[in-house]
Amino acid sequence: MRILGICASPNGKKSQTRRLVQGVLDGAASCGAQVEFVDLCRLKIEFCIGCRKCFDTGSCFFKDDYQGLLDKMLAADGMVWGSPNYSFCVRAQMKALIDRMADVIHLQSFDGKYCCAAATGGRDDTVITRYLSMNFLDFGAYVTGTVGAVVTQGPQAVEAAEQTATTLGQALFADIRDKRAYFDQRKDIDKNRHEFQAKIRAAKDVWRNQYAYWEARGWP
Ligand SMILES: Cc1cc2nc3c(=O)[nH]c(=O)nc-3n(C[C@H](O)[C@H](O)[C@H](O)COP(=O)(O)O)c2cc1C
Repeated sequence: MRILGICASPNGKKSQTRRLVQGVLDGAASCGAQVEFVDLCRLKIEFCIGCRKCFDTGSCFFKDDYQGLLDKMLAADGMVWGSPNYSFCVRAQMKALIDRMADVIHLQSFDGKYCCAAATGGRDDTVITRYLSMNFLDFGAYVTGTVGAVVTQGPQAVEAAEQTATTLGQALFADIRDKRAYFDQRKDIDKNRHEFQAKIRAAKDVWRNQYAYWEARGWP
């Protein structure tokens, strides 16, 4: 079982968000998962230019670190993504990554995967964990859970969140092992998939790779 952690804090090993991402990875590793951490700020991820070439060909116009990271994400059974709250949103590197993933959304490429969100903020972390969770569902993944801390509440707040993160990592491992079905999330994922499929049918001649993908899968 492979679990990938991705963190968008610019603060490297001093990042408080990274501690929570690492906590989830440690929890999963303690159950036997193979874990890997990626510092998103060390990668070059260009901004999506909205050309929709990936819809038609299955690959992106830019030759940067995105495809390598996507390959890692697709190979993972589970993921934990972490970001600090920057102006009520994820940090720009993570937003850039998400924007590059429109093809993942249309193909529901995270179908069968389980994800966790981790965040810290000076005032609020929940706007970020909610935002990341919505995106995981959009990619077709189940959300095992979230962990966050308001760092201005002092070091004990981050320490407590680290403990929660470790437990969350163990829950992530168990979800993947047991192929847990989250029925409410499944309803949302299925509704999204049918909406995307209708758009792709309508754009059959211009989104050829996406049409061929769902045609091969029998439009489930
Ligand atoms: C440019 C900038 C914008 C920020 N905006 C917010 C914000 O809108 N809300 C909030 O709660 N915290 C905000 N913060 C605080 C960070 O989210 C907080 O310090 C976070 O824990 C840093 O995470 P890190 O240690 O992983 O880098 C901001 C920090 C910076 C540097």
